[in-house]
Amino acid sequence: MEIQVKNAPVMEYDAIVIPFSDEKTLTVPVPSEVKEPVEAALAAGKLGCTCGSTYALDLYMEGRFVKAVLVQLGDGSATNREVFLAMAKALKSCKEAKAAVTMILLDNAKEITGNAATAKKICELPFLVSYQFNAYKSVPVVNGMKTAVIVSEMEELEETAAEAENVAESTMLARDLINHPSMYMTPEKLGEEAKTLAAELGIDVTVYDKAQIEEMKMGAFLSVAKGAADEPRVIVLRYNGGEPGEAPVALVGKGVMFDSGGYSLKSKMATMHDDMGGAAAVIGAIRAIALQKLPVNVIAVVAACENRVSGDAYVPGDILFSMNGKTIEMLNADAEGRLTLADAITYAIRKEGAGAIIDIATLTGAAKGAVGGRSAAVLSNDDELYEEVLEASRISCEKIWRLPADKELFPVLQSEVADIKNSNPGNTMGGGTIVAGLFLQEFVESHPWVHVDMAPVNWAADGNAYCIHGATGYGVSLLYETVKIIAE
Ligand code: BES
Ligand code: MN
Ligand code: ZN
Repeated sequence: MEIQVKNAPVMEYDAIVIPFSDEKTLTVPVPSEVKEPVEAALAAGKLGCTCGSTYALDLYMEGRFVKAVLVQLGDGSATNREVFLAMAKALKSCKEAKAAVTMILLDNAKEITGNAATAKKICELPFLVSYQFNAYKSVPVVNGMKTAVIVSEMEELEETAAEAENVAESTMLARDLINHPSMYMTPEKLGEEAKTLAAELGIDVTVYDKAQIEEMKMGAFLSVAKGAADEPRVIVLRYNGGEPGEAPVALVGKGVMFDSGGYSLKSKMATMHDDMGGAAAVIGAIRAIALQKLPVNVIAVVAACENRVSGDAYVPGDILFSMNGKTIEMLNADAEGRLTLADAITYAIRKEGAGAIIDIATLTGAAKGAVGGRSAAVLSNDDELYEEVLEASRISCEKIWRLPADKELFPVLQSEVADIKNSNPGNTMGGGTIVAGLFLQEFVESHPWVHVDMAPVNWAADGNAYCIHGATGYGVSLLYETVKIIAE
């Protein structure tokens, strides 16, 4: 996929997307051959009034077929995400029409699309919509989308489009990392991917092997990793765009390459190679941050392992010695993510001198029950950092919803034999997502912290408006925009 920015319509195209405000009029020059049928459709009231309404015309002219998609963006009251989804729907129908060249007349709804945040997300869409995962297909799925021509006179749109391309490519990298099954994407392989990326970006990278992780006494993480034949890795990427010595923002991603549940075995685990969506998000985000040369120091930290069953695996009742010094009574082997993250967070604090900490993880199935399948659930100990993530969420069109870090639920995690327990099988209090967050909060010390539980939005079994079946790449854009706000 290639994106071009032009200030006038091009002659050669297969599909044309025309956004409208509630005025429903053509305000920009359109190719003469589509003008008449589009105006006729508008006059006949074919286009609805609410954001997301579309009307498609299949035109045959001069020996070729052209698809024209009219898309309503509303009266200006829609959110950035609603506009993004409306445009996604229009582009998806161009993909289904097998259009190689799609032209988008961005300025026709200038009141709505004429700001950098909205334009940027629209420029990401051709990439996100045309993404395919063909690594294991004997015959690759080809959707034919090749070029998106954005027709607009907006200032600095070329820079905006280039930024969008970086973020979208980084999101697609995250999708790839997640979509590979764990038989291929092992902790070692993820480490190699990080090294390759770091070399391309010219940033710092360290990948610790099992012996080095043992030396660092990351006992909680090592216990989770113990049951797997593939050995764990701790992967650290460092981007130094800020002042020397300035504490880096730490992006900590859950990297459970496969989650069987361990001895607390899951009954459904067909997609559990997606349990490293957080890892993919922080790797994708640091790529975009480095390519955009944001003036800030950032690290991405991933404690990568598999949660497996074997003669050596950890079992309920085990007491784990975390890197932080706290002992953890392990009562559910399927509450493994918080154990890996606890040590990853401690690593970021002790070994990297982290400032603010943002962790992102497919942590709890309960998150979907709490906020539904279109948002991540968030907890925080710092309103200011949370507000920055919230603003980034509006810009990135990746939704979050905050849950309370309710201290009254903390007794659920109190242990008779250790400092804390990882899970409470007899818990009648509910709030599984909150409890998981409270567990992590024990390890962030006094650092400003936001926890993003992305379990509801990491995987789209039926695809969505801007994504085929599989990993969505959620979090790359959210974290990129967050760090951009922090850097300002
Ligand atoms: N990776 C899972 C959470 C998950 C489940 C994500 C389903 C996406 C879909 C996590 O490690 C887990 O198993 N969490 C448990 C926690 C429980 C044992 C306290 C859960 O949600 O059931
Ligand atoms: Mn689990
Ligand atoms: Zn898990």
